[in-house]
Amino acid sequence: MNESQQTTPGQKTPEQITRGGLRYEGKAKRVYATADAGQYIVEYKDDATAFNGVKRAQIEGKGAINNAITSALYPQLEAAGIPTHFIRQLSEREQLVCAVQIIPVEVIVRNVAAGSFSKRLGIEEGTPLSRPVIEYCYKSDALGDPLINTDTALSLGWATEAQLLRVRELALKVRHFLTPFFEARGVRLIDFKLEFGTLADETVVLADEISPDTCRFWDTATGEKLDKDRFRRDLGGVEDAYAEMLRRITS
Ligand SMILES: Nc1ncnc2c1ncn2[C@@H]1O[C@H](COP(=O)(O)OP(=O)(O)OP(=O)(O)O)[C@@H](O)[C@H]1O
Ligand SMILES: [Mg+2]
Repeated sequence: MNESQQTTPGQKTPEQITRGGLRYEGKAKRVYATADAGQYIVEYKDDATAFNGVKRAQIEGKGAINNAITSALYPQLEAAGIPTHFIRQLSEREQLVCAVQIIPVEVIVRNVAAGSFSKRLGIEEGTPLSRPVIEYCYKSDALGDPLINTDTALSLGWATEAQLLRVRELALKVRHFLTPFFEARGVRLIDFKLEFGTLADETVVLADEISPDTCRFWDTATGEKLDKDRFRRDLGGVEDAYAEMLRRITS
């Protein structure tokens, strides 16, 4: 049991929290109801997919590593003033989180050109951006998460103007915390994807996960990729890269 798995007096132990019905199953996680309508259990799987599910495999230990990484980062983001869905880690693969209504917009934050940004605009991967770029995509596997803008999200009623402003503000706050955090651990944070949700009282909170599945991490000294691109691009050493990121984040 690590620090974030410890229960405090009056809190239910992991054994006392009963897993209810499956609410959502995504490519990387399963979300279960609990006896409390305001709380879900998220279970991290070893499944890996890329290119909208065309490429599939199991990455041994990934679920436990991504759970450990998210469980280490979210309390620190909370401490930095970013509200999140995270309550606590329950077990190697499980977290207790606040049930949220996910805003169907993936928020990508870029420090350095890479991936689809480089491809779309013909900008060489690794080119630093003079200021952060925030991109929005519609969260739809069937459509391949297409790029949208905030007008699209507003006109289709996916979020309100106030919520989108808050999402942008929080995304920049996450970047402001994470970029130097990783720099201090010998890692360049190239880009990352966030998801936000709303609580019953409409508050916007950071949901989902932050892990090598959702970020690009390049070793500062060697440029080596320490993220899901190792899987997408058949670079090998996927498990080792994820384990290395966990080691750097928790050491
Ligand atoms: N606190 C939460 N309450 C409700 N749903 C959540 C919460 N946190 C995450 N989810 C949702 O759980 C689902 C499962 O996550 P998973 O990462 O497996 O999805 P996915 O298939 O990878 O999709 P994506 O690529 O869009 O993340 C996602 O739809 C995610 O938005
Ligand atoms: Mg996901």
